[in-house]
Amino acid sequence: MYPCSNPELVAAVSEAGGLGVVQPLSLTYVHGHGFREGLRLIRRLTAKPIGMNALIESSSRAYRDRMERWVAVALEEGVRFFVTSLGDPRLVVERVSSAGCVDYTAATERKWADKGLAGGVRGLVAVNDRAGGHAGSRPAEALLEELLPLGLPVVCAGGIGSEADFARALRMGYAGAQLGTRFIATPECRASEAYKRGIVQATERDIVLTERLTGVPVAVIDTPSVRRLGTTAGPIARFLLRGRRTKRWMRTIYGLRSLWALKRGLLRDSPERDYWQAGKSVAGIDRIEQAALIVRRFAATWRDSAAA
Ligand SMILES: Cc1cc2nc3c(=O)[nH]c(=O)nc-3n(C[C@H](O)[C@H](O)[C@H](O)COP(=O)(O)O)c2cc1C
Repeated sequence: MYPCSNPELVAAVSEAGGLGVVQPLSLTYVHGHGFREGLRLIRRLTAKPIGMNALIESSSRAYRDRMERWVAVALEEGVRFFVTSLGDPRLVVERVSSAGCVDYTAATERKWADKGLAGGVRGLVAVNDRAGGHAGSRPAEALLEELLPLGLPVVCAGGIGSEADFARALRMGYAGAQLGTRFIATPECRASEAYKRGIVQATERDIVLTERLTGVPVAVIDTPSVRRLGTTAGPIARFLLRGRRTKRWMRTIYGLRSLWALKRGLLRDSPERDYWQAGKSVAGIDRIEQAALIVRRFAATWRDSAAA
């Protein structure tokens, strides 16, 4: 998660038996580690496997080159699982599969899953309409129906705040779950106490989609700052986001601005001024709790319900 995945959180999730996923921009730009050094820090905290998120953003050549270098370093440092999001995963898949590693790709609908399949991914992360971050538009059940026929493992992303949500997703036929919001409300996450409390106190009606951050809908808590700024991009920005030529640089501008705004909003206690990303999984989150307790309780609930 950009900007919430700090090394201590990633390590705690993996150490407990989940698969903590490193977000390279979060590790470097937000939390101030060199990429390789940050991976080694996680390694000192846990010997268990970790993953890496490769956000594909093809509108910037410089970013793409940087991403390729991060993937290369991650492979050198022993990362074996990758999850690509937002663009065509082909480039990453080629790199990681030739090193014997695995890439799953995020899909909000069949068209992205088809692209992933054509690119050689080994699994899908089905991002539904309850997810934090860039949410999808389909409910979890409908999305699973759409993606299962492709014959790949499908992981549920969105709406999983409690162990009951987790067990329900697995019963539906999902192979696993990707959680974001739940792990922000942990002591290991470096987010401000106000952001964590905001997640615990929010109901799913407090989650809104805003285009003001990245130009496409992002799920956030409806804080005073969101209410003040509104949730739709202004008319000029909309026009430029639609134009064939202007779309690319508008996205770059939005992207850079949102990186900065989210970094600033992570650490300071200011719902009046900041964006706090969260999904509708807030409905199942009632306390700030250690990552290890969450992972273990979720796993135990599933084991018990599968045995019953
Ligand atoms: C604060 C936050 C930041 C996120 N950043 C990323 C990201 O950088 N890359 C990505 O692929 N997904 C990102 N996501 C989406 C998550 O990977 C995941 O799909 C989503 O959180 C699942 O929904 P949930 O928040 O209800 O658990 C982010 C989600 C949140 C809440």
